[in-house]
Amino acid sequence: MNLVHTVAEMQARADAARCAEQALALVPTMGALHAGHLALVEEARRRADHVTVSIFVNPTQFGPGEDFESYPRTLDADLDALRSVGGADLVFVPEVGEMYGAHAATSVEVEGLGDHLCGAHRPGHFDGVTTIVTKLFLACRPHVAVFGKKDAQQFLILRRMARDLGFGVEVVGVETVREADGLAMSSRNRYLSAGEREQAVVLSKALADVRLQVESGERQAAVLVESMQMGIGSAPLARLQYAEVVDTETLQPIETLQPGQEALAAVAVYFGGARLIDNTFLDVPG
Ligand code: PAJ
Repeated sequence: MNLVHTVAEMQARADAARCAEQALALVPTMGALHAGHLALVEEARRRADHVTVSIFVNPTQFGPGEDFESYPRTLDADLDALRSVGGADLVFVPEVGEMYGAHAATSVEVEGLGDHLCGAHRPGHFDGVTTIVTKLFLACRPHVAVFGKKDAQQFLILRRMARDLGFGVEVVGVETVREADGLAMSSRNRYLSAGEREQAVVLSKALADVRLQVESGERQAAVLVESMQMGIGSAPLARLQYAEVVDTETLQPIETLQPGQEALAAVAVYFGGARLIDNTFLDVPG
């Protein structure tokens, strides 16, 4: 695997691969790789000849008091993890100064889609994500970019951004990879104490209950939201930040699920200082 540290070298290598008529895929990450990230790399490999994985802890998507400083930086282990799934053609690992010039004044915003869910609680977060992903697209020049549906709002915002700006990048979503008990894999799970880890199963359980209720005909979002609140509330160590049901196109809350609608039920929960998110896509029968 070749490590690339500068945008200029990354662009030159991507251009060379494009000239050789290769299909290029990009998997953007912040490192601390686990099986969820590796599933994206495998999907990228299925869809393209040439796979770049970027590892960059992006300062502009962390708010004041969030975990930018303490975010795990584990490059050697990440490279080993990538090798375990056959490696990437390139690993793009820029420094902060390479991605953000001293006087950068430009950012990318997708209007309206950040009003709810995580966007409502992390001001500026998604502008940081859309800005860095734009820069990664421009540096890595992929045909396909692969993201996890675990961060569903991020995935839906980036899909819209790519469409609106005509990047010529297909944004692909991969199902959430989970631990045996259902907990969505996350770099932040390592912050959980043993007791918190045990109780963290309530997120995926609450969402599975919602899916069952929709399958049994429930269409009132308020009923689904209350069910998620009760489910999370059953864990004494959990503090619910939000439980919402939104439309996947507008990301606005739904009152009544409509036939043929695709909706997203999503939760964010604190266990001590660790903030966990999870979601499920709901296909309402037509
Ligand atoms: P990071 O949290 O490192 O996640 C990188 C990618 O892995 C994202 O697309 C995320 O949705 C996906 N992912 C994380 N956990 C997953 C799981 N359990 N199953 C499947 N996919 C999973 O998300 C980011 O980094 C950043 O915001 C980034 C897009 C890199 C921009 O800085």
